[in-house]
Amino acid sequence: MIKRRSFVKYFSVGWLASCFPVVLAACTPAGDSSDAKTSTSAMADASTGDKGNTVKTAGAKTTDGFTAIGTVTELDKAGYLQTAKISISRDPVNPKQLLAVNRKCTHQGCDIAWQPGAKKYECPCHDAEFSADGKVLKGPATESLTTYAAKIVGTQVLVKV
Ligand code: FES
Repeated sequence: MIKRRSFVKYFSVGWLASCFPVVLAACTPAGDSSDAKTSTSAMADASTGDKGNTVKTAGAKTTDGFTAIGTVTELDKAGYLQTAKISISRDPVNPKQLLAVNRKCTHQGCDIAWQPGAKKYECPCHDAEFSADGKVLKGPATESLTTYAAKIVGTQVLVKV
């Protein structure tokens, strides 16, 4: 008698457990999983579309490949912005436009320095000079500096390296 009760009890529990996934699937409305995927990708598209150029912190990279390296206030206060690799200044002819150059002198690789008063770059090693857009003003360098796209978005100065 006890064996029969145990058998019925375990058989019932096992049967209910095996039916549980089927019952769950039957109770789930059709198309739930595809709707979830659609709304997730729509949210991603909306966020990249709306915030593609929004930079909240310096050094953050945007979806279009630009990186914030400072603020407009910092740029205008010092007359330039620079990292170990890049220097940015306003175009002396059209101050609304930014000009970004690689800081490595094309002569022998010394770090050039922006001269805000003269609005040009000078190399401390052999006195080469470059314009704000990287063109050689004075040798011994013969090649222009590498240039990069730069822009202002909101209060941030962005460069694309
Ligand atoms: Fe710049 Fe020579 S390394 S002028």
